[in-house]
Amino acid sequence: MSKPKVLVARAIFPESIERLAQHFEVESNQADEVWSKAQLIARLQGKVGVFTTGSERIDAELLDACPGLKICANMAVGYNNFDTDAMTAHGVLGTNAPDVLTETTADFGFALLMATARRIAESEHFLRAGQWQKWAYDMFSGSDIHGSTLGIIGMGRIGQGIARRGAHGFGMKVIYHNRSRLDAALEAECKASYVGKDELLKTADHVVLVVPYTPASHHTIGAAEIALMKPTATLINIARGGIVDDAALAVALKEKRIAAAGLDVFEGEPKVHPDLLTVPNVVLTPHIASATVPTRKAMADLAVDNLIGYLVNGKPLTPVNPAVLAKN
Ligand code: GLV
Repeated sequence: MSKPKVLVARAIFPESIERLAQHFEVESNQADEVWSKAQLIARLQGKVGVFTTGSERIDAELLDACPGLKICANMAVGYNNFDTDAMTAHGVLGTNAPDVLTETTADFGFALLMATARRIAESEHFLRAGQWQKWAYDMFSGSDIHGSTLGIIGMGRIGQGIARRGAHGFGMKVIYHNRSRLDAALEAECKASYVGKDELLKTADHVVLVVPYTPASHHTIGAAEIALMKPTATLINIARGGIVDDAALAVALKEKRIAAAGLDVFEGEPKVHPDLLTVPNVVLTPHIASATVPTRKAMADLAVDNLIGYLVNGKPLTPVNPAVLAKN
């Protein structure tokens, strides 16, 4: 009997393809070509599953054109590339890769915060450019992390990881804003106090964004929100492009309305707003918050486990639209 067919839409670990090949006929993209939507649709013909990475948009148009598709397994915790309503309507399951990246991503959020507040990237460029002629009392003075107020917008697992690092490791006062308040035990463990969004923006020395992207969270931070922040504050976005209005942020950084920003995600990435590339007080990284070898392997493994779990055993591990399972 022939094996069911799956597509791996981007280059991934060879071991992941080998694992999939034990159960499926696998078409992969190890050349990591950038496929248009039409090319993705063409390759999905006859496939029951697809391994996605967060860059491939799965919407009604694609689903209409791929009637045999049963599951899209994202190697990412965020799944704003999925139109989950359309997927549920088409009976297509989506899965994501939560938990396995939480601590690694929280580490990175903290690294970006430190690099931004202490002007590490900016000063390194200065040194490499041969501009360091003498010590100066105010050279690359930044702002303190220890003892400062950390404001976290989005208090899911990664937000909680950042809160723990700030409160327990750096003696920061942690405030947070979230759609719903954490229970008291979790607040105590994270040493975090719930506040309104405006209060957080007005009070925090460092604001870290970790909210999922949805139409409601689009431009959570724009010119009006930046205007509430302290002129000495830093803003860190490790959530998703589109959570921050990048054009408004570039203006604010240029005019020093806030001290600095650290961005790992961008509106329309991999394109970056050109004005962000010319302001010195921003640290820019190419969407690498979960990028350690063990974590990326664990994320790939989870996506593979979801494909095997659903297509072979009928039991996916981390479904994002479980209503599809109820229908089956
Ligand atoms: C990365 O951005 C992810 O959602 O896993």
